[in-house]
Amino acid sequence: MYVCLCHGVTDGQIREAIYEGCCSYRDVRDSLGVGTQCGKCACLAKQVVRDTLGEL
Ligand code: FES
Repeated sequence: MYVCLCHGVTDGQIREAIYEGCCSYRDVRDSLGVGTQCGKCACLAKQVVRDTLGEL
């Protein structure tokens, strides 16, 4: 599912970024660009990051 439409980032890509070393929303944002345009996805993106980190 798309989390960030501005940058075409899916929840799967966010998870992948975390498995590859991102350990915070800030890391994911810097690496994928989520939340850096309109900002509407920030809340959901943070949630995906939190959920994924919680599963590790
Ligand atoms: Fe992510 Fe706009 S939907 S910045």
